[in-house]
Amino acid sequence: MEKKAKDSLVLMTELVLPNDTNTFGNLMGGRLMYWMDIAAALSALKHCAAPVVTASVDNISFENPIKLGNVVHIEAKVTRAFKSSMEVHLMVWGEDAVQQYRYKSNEAYLTFVALDPNGKPRTVNQLVPETEEEQKLFEGALRRRQVRLILGGKMKPNEADELKALFS
Ligand SMILES: CC(C)(COP(=O)(O)OP(=O)(O)OC[C@H]1O[C@@H](n2cnc3c(N)ncnc32)[C@H](O)[C@@H]1OP(=O)(O)O)[C@@H](O)C(=O)NCCC(=O)NCCS
Repeated sequence: MEKKAKDSLVLMTELVLPNDTNTFGNLMGGRLMYWMDIAAALSALKHCAAPVVTASVDNISFENPIKLGNVVHIEAKVTRAFKSSMEVHLMVWGEDAVQQYRYKSNEAYLTFVALDPNGKPRTVNQLVPETEEEQKLFEGALRRRQVRLILGGKMKPNEADELKALFS
């Protein structure tokens, strides 16, 4: 079965409270990653309609701190589905709702694997990108997958055809 990318969209909104912050009064990275993991897992779950586990988290760079009392917006959407795994793209913004401005905090890719009732990987729905942005993310997903599988020791560099094609 095929499903559209937009059907996996998840929008999460959180308020940064004192228990979420570090000693500088900024949102702790670990708390943000916890929210990102949940938003991304819900997106993958919407796509495949099955229980999922986080297989990997790509590099996350925190570009701007999010302040105590600010709002956190997380947008998650599946970019591409493979056999049992799905790549989810996340965009994270902070918002000062009093001064009324929004700023980008970070962007990340997480990979989830759908499991069957025995806890084994199961086949997922294929994803159909529609917009230009979705198409771009869909195409890049193949290369990002090869990078993370090489780094995770699951693929030999000489098997990464899409990556090799970039340099030939
Ligand atoms: C993720 C997990 C299910 C993969 O199981 P596995 O036995 O290695 O299965 P396979 O090698 O058959 O791989 C299954 C899929 O996982 C993907 N995968 C495995 N390791 C991966 C990694 N490091 N990054 C991205 N995808 C990965 C494979 O590419 C494959 O995808 P595909 O079916 O779309 O081609 C297994 O490692 C696991 O359960 N990990 C713990 C998950 C967890 O508890 N997460 C919460 C955080 S602690």
